[in-house]
Amino acid sequence: MNSNNYLGLSLHPEVIHAEEEAARKYGVGPGAVRFISGTYQPHGDLERTLAAFHSREEAVLFSSAYAAIVSTIVSLVTPGTALISDELNHNCIINAVKLARPKEKYVYKHLDLADLEAKLEQASQSCQRALVVTDGVFSMRGVHAPLADIVKLIQRFDERFTENVVLIVDDSHGVGAFGVTGRGIEEITQSCCDILVGTLGKAFGVNGGYVVGSKTFTTYLRETAPMYIYSNPITPSEAAAANKVLEIIQDPEGQTLLHHLRELVSSFRTGLSKLGFETLPGVHPVVPLMVRDTSKTITLVNQLFDKGILATGLRYPVVPKGDESIRFQLNADHTLGDVKEVLKALRAKE
Ligand SMILES: Cc1ncc(COP(=O)(O)O)c(C=O)c1O
Repeated sequence: MNSNNYLGLSLHPEVIHAEEEAARKYGVGPGAVRFISGTYQPHGDLERTLAAFHSREEAVLFSSAYAAIVSTIVSLVTPGTALISDELNHNCIINAVKLARPKEKYVYKHLDLADLEAKLEQASQSCQRALVVTDGVFSMRGVHAPLADIVKLIQRFDERFTENVVLIVDDSHGVGAFGVTGRGIEEITQSCCDILVGTLGKAFGVNGGYVVGSKTFTTYLRETAPMYIYSNPITPSEAAAANKVLEIIQDPEGQTLLHHLRELVSSFRTGLSKLGFETLPGVHPVVPLMVRDTSKTITLVNQLFDKGILATGLRYPVVPKGDESIRFQLNADHTLGDVKEVLKALRAKE
């Protein structure tokens, strides 16, 4: 109960076969960075497939989502930029903000639109450009950003900045994991951000990261992002595996996996609340059981482990003090029987 492999695709025979076949054809490594000789057919294919999957003009691959977000943020920050970030954003965003050294840096309260508005107001007094950055799904809590409302808010402020407000969303935990067709936060909230970052290493079951956006932006990124220009891409065989994953996700098989995952999540959440446990509302396969105490969290995690159940205990500083919890992560390889088993183990600990 603690893997990001939400659709169980890392062990899918066709995905393994695609990776093996490509390794035999192209070798096990790219041999160079993209603009030298490190671009192979599967890299181009994957970028086109990802762009189409997210209805964007282009996609750019990176060795990880971490590298993708750092590169995106660093490349877009100018001497007149304000960076505005949710306080519970992932570590990659926090470090990207530090590295980018924007003119002004604001951290708004978690999911708090009134606070985001106040920060935009403040930034508009002195900055020409604003980058608003948020996780799509917050990986420790399984809750997602109110993207539709953020988009509306940003539209109101767009003209207050001469170089506009750009919304960047890191949906590493959302893409492939939720939404009826697996398109993550944008599908769940029926909205669209300017720049979307995703990983190939969670629901897609492979490895690597990517950014999708307009062609103007991706062309600029290919010319400026250090981790794209000076660092190897994922291997051609990883790209081939990810291409196969995207094919499966868009086939009836992928829809069945996503449907099964939704059923598991719903059954687990219902079971937890029947047992009287506190959780946070949501539909994502990350399901937090809020314990709100460090030693109780450790004890419960150990008791579950003794019963053959692996779940992650989260305590300060990974989560804020008072938010100590156990993070359960469901994936499509689980069965309803597995869910019952975990609930049975938790019932025994009441
Ligand atoms: C929100 C978020 N962004 C980025 C990453 C990093 O992904 P990758 O392993 O592809 O660098 C993670 C991984 O935990 C994440 O939760």
